[in-house]
Amino acid sequence: MDVGCGPGVASRYLAARFHPTIGLDFSITAIRMARQYATERGYGPCYIAANAVVLPFRERTFSFVFDRGCLQDLPRIWWKTYFEEVERVLRYDGVFQLLCLNSKNFPSISSLSGILARFRRYVIEQKCFITPTLISRLVPSSMEKVRLEDFSFQLKNGKTVFLTECVFSKSTE
Ligand SMILES: C[S@@+](CC[C@H](N)C(=O)[O-])C[C@H]1O[C@@H](n2cnc3c(N)ncnc32)[C@H](O)[C@@H]1O
Repeated sequence: MDVGCGPGVASRYLAARFHPTIGLDFSITAIRMARQYATERGYGPCYIAANAVVLPFRERTFSFVFDRGCLQDLPRIWWKTYFEEVERVLRYDGVFQLLCLNSKNFPSISSLSGILARFRRYVIEQKCFITPTLISRLVPSSMEKVRLEDFSFQLKNGKTVFLTECVFSKSTE
């Protein structure tokens, strides 16, 4: 499952390797676009409009859950439930891969623009950034950390993007 699949770029990639693949997003517009791409090509994932914190699937349905950019869009107050939902729908030994923009994308905290950007994110939008401390507080204990690392890459327009990648495996009972 690709959580917060948007127009379905990653879910189409996943569908070529895993069957069946589900793309889930709460934006009807994104789901329509994703479905249209899939229909034009005559194959692809199944798409479903739903909220990532109330996943409409039974326990232990998926062997792989992928998130690129969804968790970072959720208000901080939903994060714990989000992780619990992902854990619930993962099979034992299933893998969860999470890619999030991290705070390095923001101007330095010692600048006015850095302070304003953080104020906007934390106070107005009620969002936050992924950190190792938060992960250990929020992710259920059955999820074993396999990888947690920061990396960066350059977009075609030359801008550098900073991401955190977390990979977890759900342990057997
Ligand atoms: C930054 S975009 C990433 C899209 C896609 N994963 C990609 O990498 O191209 C974040 C996506 O998460 C979706 N999203 C945000 N909150 C959500 C929620 N509560 N439930 C499901 N999807 C959500 C948004 O609609 C958006 O499509």
